[in-house]
Amino acid sequence: MQYSLTQEVPTDSDDIDALIDSAFGPGRLTRTVHRFRKSVPPMNEYGFVARLEGEMVASIRFWPVVLPCGTTIPMLGPLAVRPEIRGLGIGRALVRKGMDTVRVSGMPAIVIVGDPGYYAPFGFSVEPVQGLDLGGPVVPLTLMGIEYEAGALSGKSGTVEPVPT
Ligand SMILES: CC(C)(COP(=O)(O)OP(=O)(O)OC[C@H]1O[C@@H](n2cnc3c(N)ncnc32)[C@H](O)[C@@H]1OP(=O)(O)O)[C@@H](O)C(=O)NCCC(=O)NCCS
Repeated sequence: MQYSLTQEVPTDSDDIDALIDSAFGPGRLTRTVHRFRKSVPPMNEYGFVARLEGEMVASIRFWPVVLPCGTTIPMLGPLAVRPEIRGLGIGRALVRKGMDTVRVSGMPAIVIVGDPGYYAPFGFSVEPVQGLDLGGPVVPLTLMGIEYEAGALSGKSGTVEPVPT
């Protein structure tokens, strides 16, 4: 199956919102991660979409979050792939593309609330974020992180906060 991965553009926004709504349902607005997303836009430089025959079929976004030391880093998510084309590797390709773009841009770390079964193979783990919390529950998912600079997460303790508005 021939699909393309391209940077998200402003005209993708409505289609991405519809995809995310159908993938996660209205419950997503009550999840702790929503507190980071509700008042500020995603980091568009790290947002990618997959297109199949010109149609947007999958999306990855990253939102800015502020570590207790004041450093802003990206939080991965949401990631969603249209149900009819899941299991073809598009989700993994988007994660790799997004993570590579973040790393190359010089960001020191990424955090995520997700399923370790899916994200551990990309290098995410709970170890670097032992001292951090998101100011609310994340179960049944797990807070994980990956460091591109040693100590960027593992040296920190306290609550990760949304970007002030
Ligand atoms: C999770 C999701 C993005 C994966 O997209 P995808 O394009 O199907 O993913 P890929 O094809 O790259 O990978 C599929 C593999 O991931 C596995 N997988 C999917 N969801 C998983 C999960 N939550 N935990 C562990 N493995 C998972 C599949 O079983 C499959 O395994 P296989 O390769 O051994 O058969 C997609 O299922 C989706 O949009 N789900 C709804 C939204 C969601 O849950 N997003 C993630 C939030 S943390």
